[in-house]
Amino acid sequence: MKDTKQREMLERLRVHLENNTTDKSPHSLQVPASHYVGNEQFEHEVDALFKKRPLLVALTPHIPNAGDYLTHEVIDTSLLITRDKAGAARAYLNACRHRGARLAEGKGNKATFSCPFHAWNWGLDGKIIARPNSHDGFAAADTRYDQLIEVPCHEQAGLIFVLLEGSDIEAKVQVMMGAALTDIDNYDIANTHYIDSRSTELACNYKFFLDGFAETYHIAPLHKDSISPFYYSNSTLVEQMNEVIHLVSPRKTIDREFEKPATEQGQVLPYCTTEYLIGPNVLLTHQVDHIQFWHAYPLDGANRCRVELNVFWPKPMDEDAQRKADLNVDLVWKVTTEEDFPQSVAIHRNLASGALPELVFGQNEPALIYYHQNIAKAIGSDRLIPLLAITE
Ligand code: FES
Ligand SMILES: [Fe+2]
Repeated sequence: MKDTKQREMLERLRVHLENNTTDKSPHSLQVPASHYVGNEQFEHEVDALFKKRPLLVALTPHIPNAGDYLTHEVIDTSLLITRDKAGAARAYLNACRHRGARLAEGKGNKATFSCPFHAWNWGLDGKIIARPNSHDGFAAADTRYDQLIEVPCHEQAGLIFVLLEGSDIEAKVQVMMGAALTDIDNYDIANTHYIDSRSTELACNYKFFLDGFAETYHIAPLHKDSISPFYYSNSTLVEQMNEVIHLVSPRKTIDREFEKPATEQGQVLPYCTTEYLIGPNVLLTHQVDHIQFWHAYPLDGANRCRVELNVFWPKPMDEDAQRKADLNVDLVWKVTTEEDFPQSVAIHRNLASGALPELVFGQNEPALIYYHQNIAKAIGSDRLIPLLAITE
């Protein structure tokens, strides 16, 4: 985030904190159970949001060097994301062109990919290198079996996007991200260091994952024994940047900035949690001094999901920084898995029971409203009902 924007946000936060207010949506929103539960709407979400729009699948520091790779599961589609010898990020279906075996699992570095099934050998450019011991059995096969199936991939501002269906990924990323790309570029993500990942499966719809991060209203009650003492609950700045939703939530340390002489004030990043909700399933967070990259994917339909956290730390890394980063991963994972995610699972059960017809998002939860309206708009759903504000 640029300095001028930080100064402007600091002023808006000062007004909110002095008046105990927060950014608001023009209306509240009623959301029916069928928006989360069951597979009728879900099929439309998969098509419109996961297949036809760019997905943010990795950060540049996941694969900083040629030959670095990671695998990434987009619902049922396994992707192999790698950096080629020329330094470009590339994405392939993680499927051998012979009989479809997976070429890699997890994360690592390889000069070539050797298929575990019959040892066909593939280059970082996706081209076949050798078919050992095949006795020329594929001499008459079409040349398309000489090349892995490539998925459009675009890398910008330290972010790696893919597009499962269609073309023009670069233009689509610009439409989706807008000015958020400039904001995020200022975090210099490409020069951070990958620390660690954690993942878990939850018995709830994937959208509950972002719901849990889209407001700070819950911090005081739900996190009263963990992180609440460090945050101002329910005073948050929220803006839509094209299809991205940006939240800035102050920690109590922001008072230090307000105590400085007026001419020296102007920073929010060292005192805030800054979040970008990107697409249907990604949360990118600048957390005071480091980056968290979260994603959630549906598993076996609408009623289960898999959530993953990846943490990145600014360089240079030394022993102290490593210790701090490791502690941070443990802490954030403990708070989310013990406090946030159980709420998501309980809410999903209540909706799935059929006894609870809908939820309501308040005007003080604008990011929730924008997120779900974006989803409804993308799939052409009219199931969400804006509730007009009662005017004072
Ligand atoms: S499936 Fe890969 S070499 Fe046979
Ligand atoms: Fe939380």
